[in-house]
Amino acid sequence: MARVNYTITVSKALRVFLMILFAGVLLGACQSDPNSPGVEYMPDMYRSPTFETYGENEISGTKIMSARLPANNTIARGSDNLPYPYPNTIEGYEAAGVNLKNPLEATELSLADAKVLFTRYCVHCHGKKGLGDGTVPTNSEYPQPPSYSGALKDLPEGKIFHTLNYGKNLMGSHASQMTKTERWNVILYVQTLQKLGGTSAKAEDNKEQEESK
Ligand code: HEC
Repeated sequence: MARVNYTITVSKALRVFLMILFAGVLLGACQSDPNSPGVEYMPDMYRSPTFETYGENEISGTKIMSARLPANNTIARGSDNLPYPYPNTIEGYEAAGVNLKNPLEATELSLADAKVLFTRYCVHCHGKKGLGDGTVPTNSEYPQPPSYSGALKDLPEGKIFHTLNYGKNLMGSHASQMTKTERWNVILYVQTLQKLGGTSAKAEDNKEQEESK
């Protein structure tokens, strides 16, 4: 009987001891700083040092935004926008006219794509047939661009590319909207319009009406 009582006493004392130990560990983890997470087991496992993209971080000793501009002369992987070697000068324009050749061929497929590009980026100024009678010059003070099949009918593809790259007078650059391939592609369509003939929008309209009769 006495043996049993002894065992009970020991296990009771052990339980009390364990409870005190547990409470001690529990309280020991508390810290006076309310924002402190207390004692953490391997904190870097779930608290990796993060760099917020638009946050400030110390990089090489200076505090700057984490998102950085690419280094100068960087070209995005897969981009076709390699540096354009002709300067934005009259000489550059003339040299482009002589030396630059379209790497794309006019096929049924490429012309279909080119027409989509033309409709998206050019038609509102240059008009459906490239006569300069798009909705912008027709409905505003914006001057009519010259007709592709009139004043521009012999314009070489290199000069067209140069103009798309830098813009010319009132026509803005299209380099940021269209990839190089798209620019060469749309030129294939412009060339089909250059061959159309006819300088006045009115003449074309009349012809169209004749045809549809
Ligand atoms: C906001 C109106 C506008 C848009 C959009 C526009 N153009 Fe023009 N474009 C003009 C004007 C105006 C000129 C005449 C520029 C000059 O010679 O002063 C011009 C000139 C041109 C020329 C003659 C350039 C030269 O070297 O003389 C070509 C070719 C041409 N545009 C093609 C295009 C193509 C292709 C697109 C679409 C990708 C386009 N343009 C979009 C207004 C526009």
